[in-house]
Amino acid sequence: MTVPSQHKRVFLQTFGCQMNDYDSGKILEQLRAEAYYPTEDPAEADLILINTCAIREKAENKVYSLLGTLSETKKRKPMVKIGVGGCVAQQQGEQILRRAKMVDLVFGTDNIFDLPELLHRVHRGERVVSTEWRHRKQKTANFIPAFPEPAPGENLVKAGIAITKGCNNFCTFCVVPYTRGREVSREPENILAEARSLVRRGAREIMLLGQNVNSYRAGEQGFVQLLRSMNDIPGLERIRYTSPHPKDFGEELADAHVELPKLCEHLHLPFQAGSDRILKAMRRNHGIPEYLEKMAMMKQKVPEIALSTDIIVGFPGEEEEDFEGTLRVMREVRFDHLYAFKFSPRNDTPAASYAGQVPERVKAERLAAVHDLHESILAEKNSAFVHSRQEVLVEGPHPREKGTANGRTRGNKSTMVMDCELPPGTLVPVEIVATRKFSLIGREVGGG
Ligand code: 5AD
Ligand code: SF4
Repeated sequence: MTVPSQHKRVFLQTFGCQMNDYDSGKILEQLRAEAYYPTEDPAEADLILINTCAIREKAENKVYSLLGTLSETKKRKPMVKIGVGGCVAQQQGEQILRRAKMVDLVFGTDNIFDLPELLHRVHRGERVVSTEWRHRKQKTANFIPAFPEPAPGENLVKAGIAITKGCNNFCTFCVVPYTRGREVSREPENILAEARSLVRRGAREIMLLGQNVNSYRAGEQGFVQLLRSMNDIPGLERIRYTSPHPKDFGEELADAHVELPKLCEHLHLPFQAGSDRILKAMRRNHGIPEYLEKMAMMKQKVPEIALSTDIIVGFPGEEEEDFEGTLRVMREVRFDHLYAFKFSPRNDTPAASYAGQVPERVKAERLAAVHDLHESILAEKNSAFVHSRQEVLVEGPHPREKGTANGRTRGNKSTMVMDCELPPGTLVPVEIVATRKFSLIGREVGGG
């Protein structure tokens, strides 16, 4: 893209979850209206922004190491402005300005839509911190104020929509209730308007996002009604959601997967740990038998359902037999995909100061055991995919294999389609011919 010379350039680096990716999209939309164009190269940027993640120590460390590198950039180009947003910004506020002298702006998770005004203050020479909460005591609020019209040549294929912000669960390990505040749901009409706008911009697949999506409620409307309304949107082909909480997952939502053709055969349901004692200490408000029953119900209703989860190893007090429980759940459910993390003590959270912190070495061993078991389960599961028919949504050409398209199945498996140059956004019926460790290889087949 040629950028007119009067336009400025913004480099935006995003860490963390899909909610942060979504927020970054909103940041860029705000800045486009202020004549900032994105660039991949921080050296040519007039504005450098970091959208931070505080969920685990590793993510937080990356922010400070990137800021270290950027202080060199600022020495070479003193006019460049540097801003820090997202969860670390929300939690640390002022402290970031004190610790990182090159930072001009700190903005919280609720302040994205104030960016144009905040940047004007920065350009007047102020160092600005803005971390005030919005919609503090509201159960519903339309916290996304505007949706842009399609830009020329734009084709999103896949997009996310925040349906809630914040979380009221206060799991004892988790920083989110402190960095994103209490749970607020958007009105269905406001969400559907954004969905229709994304479809006009090319989106064929929409992921509904929230820290606890299935506790979504706007007056009389619950999550399943919202899914039904989404299913009626013309031009939209696929609907996903993440993350639901097991305590709020029930038969009505499982039935929605049977009833609604656009709702994909994929459920990401974090169980975190396979021991009731640890779940209690995590304040998850459910037990393992209940989780296993819900997963069994889901498999019974939708046999082809792809299941994924989040696991934390080495929560304080986790003994070998608790951890064995985690492996047992994995063996029973046989997940198609999982995210596993070593417990990371987070500021402000109760579990950070619990007795019985697990040594790093033990956490690393347990994490490796989870990955080993997952890979052996996947190896068995993968062979069942060969010769199966799958529908792939093409996202674009494969980055390494020429003449080959890249996309995902309805079960969210990354799939390479051989000899296929169909444009992004096309749905292709595919026969799977081979598998790799974490992905599938298929060939287009005629008919559906
Ligand atoms: N330590 C390790 N993992 C964590 N997660 C959240 N907080 C922590 C923490 N303090 C994981 C959980 C959650 C996922 C998004 O991140 O598994 O589901
Ligand atoms: Fe964090 Fe628990 Fe809320 Fe998920 S449900 S965001 S883990 S507090």
